[in-house]
Amino acid sequence: MPRKILVTSALPYANGSIHLGHLVEYIQTDIWVRFQKMRGNTCHYVCADDTHGTPIMLRAEKEGITPEQLIARVWQEHYNDFASFHVEFDNYGSTNSDENRVCSETIYKSLKAKGLIEVRSIEQFYDPVKNMFLPDRFIKGECPKCHAKDQYGDNCEVCGAAYAPTDLINPYSAVSGAKPELRNSDHYFFKLSAASCQQFLREWTRSGSLQPEAANKMQEWLGTEGENKLSDWDISRDAPYFGFEIPDAPGKYFYVWLDAPVGYMGSFRQLCNIKGFSYDEYWKQGSDTELYHFIGKDILYFHALFWPAMLHHAGFRTPTKLFSHGFLTVNGEKMSKSRGTFITARSYVDHIKNTEYLRYYYAAKLNGTMEDIDLNLDDFVAKVNSDLIGKYINIASRCAGFISKRFDGKLGHTNSVATAEFQSAFQNGEIAHCFEQRDFSRALREIMRLADVANQYIAEKKPWELAKQEGKDNELREVCSTALTQFRDLTLYLKPVLPELAKQVESFLNIPSLTWSEEWLPLPTGHNINNYQHLAVRLDPKLIDAMVIANQESLQPMNEPTTTQLPITPIAETISIDEFSKVDLRVANIVNAELVEGAEKLLKLTLDIGEAQPRTVFAGIKSAYDPEKLKGRMTVMVANLAPRKMKFGLSEGMVLAASGETPGLFILSPDEGAQLGMRIK
Ligand code: MSP
Ligand code: ZN
Repeated sequence: MPRKILVTSALPYANGSIHLGHLVEYIQTDIWVRFQKMRGNTCHYVCADDTHGTPIMLRAEKEGITPEQLIARVWQEHYNDFASFHVEFDNYGSTNSDENRVCSETIYKSLKAKGLIEVRSIEQFYDPVKNMFLPDRFIKGECPKCHAKDQYGDNCEVCGAAYAPTDLINPYSAVSGAKPELRNSDHYFFKLSAASCQQFLREWTRSGSLQPEAANKMQEWLGTEGENKLSDWDISRDAPYFGFEIPDAPGKYFYVWLDAPVGYMGSFRQLCNIKGFSYDEYWKQGSDTELYHFIGKDILYFHALFWPAMLHHAGFRTPTKLFSHGFLTVNGEKMSKSRGTFITARSYVDHIKNTEYLRYYYAAKLNGTMEDIDLNLDDFVAKVNSDLIGKYINIASRCAGFISKRFDGKLGHTNSVATAEFQSAFQNGEIAHCFEQRDFSRALREIMRLADVANQYIAEKKPWELAKQEGKDNELREVCSTALTQFRDLTLYLKPVLPELAKQVESFLNIPSLTWSEEWLPLPTGHNINNYQHLAVRLDPKLIDAMVIANQESLQPMNEPTTTQLPITPIAETISIDEFSKVDLRVANIVNAELVEGAEKLLKLTLDIGEAQPRTVFAGIKSAYDPEKLKGRMTVMVANLAPRKMKFGLSEGMVLAASGETPGLFILSPDEGAQLGMRIK
């Protein structure tokens, strides 16, 4: 009995381009789906763009278009990118669809009827200029722990502290720059803390739906029996918001993460409408079909807690399994725009063209666990050229010509001793088992081992020498025919990974579309093959270099060191250490900073270096610093400079700042931990 399987990949956000990190997931899923289809199972693969939320609303506004226009454009880009990498969805929808609206409302209403929705007033930051509540990511300010400036409302990128936006010092809206106000508003909550939810999730975690690492995480989140660690989940956002309005709650919208996973249902509903499949068969409680979600480890929380709890309590089936994967690194490091390793799908296509190389490399790395995977660009070139070209393609290119030229394209007898290992590999089902378990790397190792067997056979028989000898025609024909049967087998196994290449091979071998049939048979004697056409070329490392350069952002991000060489002004006359020691430099805390009436360039700073009285220093840094943002900062001052009478008052020292030929003025700060008053020497 063929299985009935519904498969999803996470829905990519509609506010950015598809990059090589995303593709780990979509390629992994696509390989698995293609494998299931080749096995004769019924398998539907659906996905969609994740289109709702504040960032998309604001981005559209910035571009001067409607959110609908923005998501339509991005949808087309995403769709084309996936198609280029042969990621073949049965339906690619959008969360902003009627189908998804209906599914979301249905689930919400069921949860409400079960008493699992609660309305509570909460206090939140509000932008009085933009007239909107601000998501944490759109509030910035000074880290309450390490005092780093311009940190996001949820955590500090400098010291790693996590906090609430209300903990920020001098918070400001990242949208308008305005000082946010705390305001109250009613929010809708899904009562995850309800006993029935915790109880259900405890059981679900243990039901084998999660990888061991994910199940451990769940235990951590859920705590021990009776601990009640889960809090209710805020599922509403106030207008203005791009999303679905909550039924009977004007001005309130579903939070994007409510209708995003429901998008799996919405997209499948569309497929059912087109193809006449039964939606209920796949989604109703007690369904005997299988449901798998491929996701990244960063979104496990949503998929392992909220989503099954929502489904279960709204009367739907829960996922059979969540397949969670790790993150992509490039050359062992996080993808980086300045290093040129934040590579978009589009630029890969523009530079390398052959997208199956990447599919092959990812497959060789994926093993079904949550470990991160590394794309090492040198290793990528080496692996493609040695395995794909050197081992696999080589078999056909060394044998096909003789069949065409010497035997009119007709195959001869296959040597069953030479194919015995291939026949048993097919029959023992190990490669299929690896694919099923998503251990693609093991599958490819086994496939390449068989390719080695085929290459050894050819190396031993030397068809190019047989071709030169009198009376060896039959042997030459047998060797080449045998090698082509071996090549056919390898193609079958590689087909989920390399669907385009497999198609070309099928046409060259003149055989029907390869599937995982019951029986192993060699290519029949007398079978006519077509002329061999070049199947693939070696990957040229120069293409990789060009791609990396093209992805390197010309504008260096502020927090990454600049690599460009600037001409420097000549170094001053040499001094002795004693001369240097005459300058008394101290760590100072800027306790106050203010504008000076009538002064064009000056700020008036109040500096504390631990003396009885703080000092006043007039500093020419007005062009570079907003006085508000200097307050509370540590800096360096010259403490023994003779006081100077200025037009605006007495200046009792000097702060140090860097400047050069290019615009900008940069005051110094000591490293974390330095105390005010410390001497710098
Ligand atoms: N919109 C949400 C998912 C909603 S699913 C109901 C989202 N979108 S995303 O565009 O940020 O990511 C889509 C998928 O790509 C996620 O599963 C995510 O883990 C994966 N990846 C994004 N960057 C990745 C890497 N660098 N490496 C591996 N996978 C990555 O999350
Ligand atoms: Zn910090």
